[in-house]
This record gives sequence, structure tokens and C-alpha cells, in this order.
Amino acid sequence: MLIAGNWKMYKGPAEAAVFCRALRDAGLPEDVDVVVCPPYVSLEAAVQALAGTEIGVFAQSCHWEAEGAFTGEVSAAMLHEVGAYGTLVAHSERRQWFGETDESAAARVRTALAEGLDVIACVGETLAEREAGETEAVLRRQVGVLEHDDNLVIAYEPVWAIGTGKTATPAMAQEAHETIKSLLDVPVLYGGSVKPENAAELLAQPAVDGALVGGASLDVDSFAAICRAAVTS
Ligand code: 13P
Repeated sequence: MLIAGNWKMYKGPAEAAVFCRALRDAGLPEDVDVVVCPPYVSLEAAVQALAGTEIGVFAQSCHWEAEGAFTGEVSAAMLHEVGAYGTLVAHSERRQWFGETDESAAARVRTALAEGLDVIACVGETLAEREAGETEAVLRRQVGVLEHDDNLVIAYEPVWAIGTGKTATPAMAQEAHETIKSLLDVPVLYGGSVKPENAAELLAQPAVDGALVGGASLDVDSFAAICRAAVTS
């Protein structure tokens, strides 16, 4: 089981350090892989605060070129240099607000893996796509550009469940995860309003290999509770 906390645009370096020190003292279960994904500027603070622990630090994206004139972007080698262990790629907010496409996502994934970073690549349908019966076609398109890699994990995040308090039912998650796994044999995390109250039943689904948590990962107690729910699932 892998539980990853995507902080999005929350927590600068000082707050990240305080959070990570509390997380290392939170008594997280040993047999659950735990990852935090701070904003770029807080990566180093998180890496330092979590040094000597098993908790991994991931970025939230990285560029597909090694270096160049790409204002505002960060390379995989730079992430490596500050001690990041991996990165998210193609979160739906990157697709929605920053022009991420299936092709740019695939390029970022390839480069990050080649640099030796672990990757959590995000996929998922919008509400309109689900209501139009297009969920499977969308997942086939988004997953179809990716290739198997031992260090690649996919996060299924139905866009309509992100930050809305609406969660996919365990059966919906199971069905989408089965589709993804039929395309690519990699671990699949569920994301979208995962909370301590619903984590256990989602994680109990056989095709759910962990969770990518947004809002509930910003609080040490709720994030630790989700990590503990992963043990019993
Ligand atoms: P919430 O858990 O806040 O719905 O966010 C999910 C998400 O986008 C994680 O990447």
C-alpha cells in the first residue's frame, strides 16, 4: 500500500518542516509506503525534516527536457539534486489549468523515470465525460500513452471527486482500476476526497493499491489516520 499526500499549493518551507517533523513522530505504520508531495520551494525543507525516515518526498511535476529556456519549469535532475525521490505527473489540475496534454504527460513521465525518479502519473475523467459514458475511453486514451515501468504508479482521480467532498463509490473505483490495470500492469492509487472516514472501504477494494490524498493530507492527524487505515485494508 502506498499513501501519498499531494499538498498542491499549500505549505511553504517553514510550514513544511513543522509538518514533516510532526509526521515523523506520528507513529506511522511500518508496512505502508508514505509519500508527501510539497510545492517545489518546500522540497528541500521536507527532505531535511524527513532524513533518516522511510517517508518519501515527491515533487508535483517536472519538465521533459534536461534543461533549457522553459521559464517556470523544473527539471528531473534538479529534483534529484534537492533529494526528491519521485514526482507526480499530469495531475488533473495541471491538465485543466496549465495545458497538460496526454503527450506532454507521457514525455514528463519518460524523462522523470530515466532520471531515476519514481513517478505517480494521474488519470481520470471529468463529470461530463462520466455522464456521457466515456470513462473507459478517457482512461484508455490517458493510460495508452504510458509504458510499463517498475517505478511507475498510476493514480486514478475522477476529476468530479477532487476537492468536492464527492467520492467515487468503492465499486466505481474498483471498476476504473480494473480498466487501468488491464491496460498497464502497475499499482493504481485512488484519489478524490479520500478522508479518514472513507479510506478503509476504498483501500479494501482488491484493485486499489493505495491513495493519493489532497485536502486531508494537509493535517498530520488526518493523514496519519489514512495511513493507518491502509494497514487493515
Ligand atoms: P482531495 O483529496 O482534496 O479531493 O484532492 C485529491 C487530489 O487531487 C490529490 O491529488
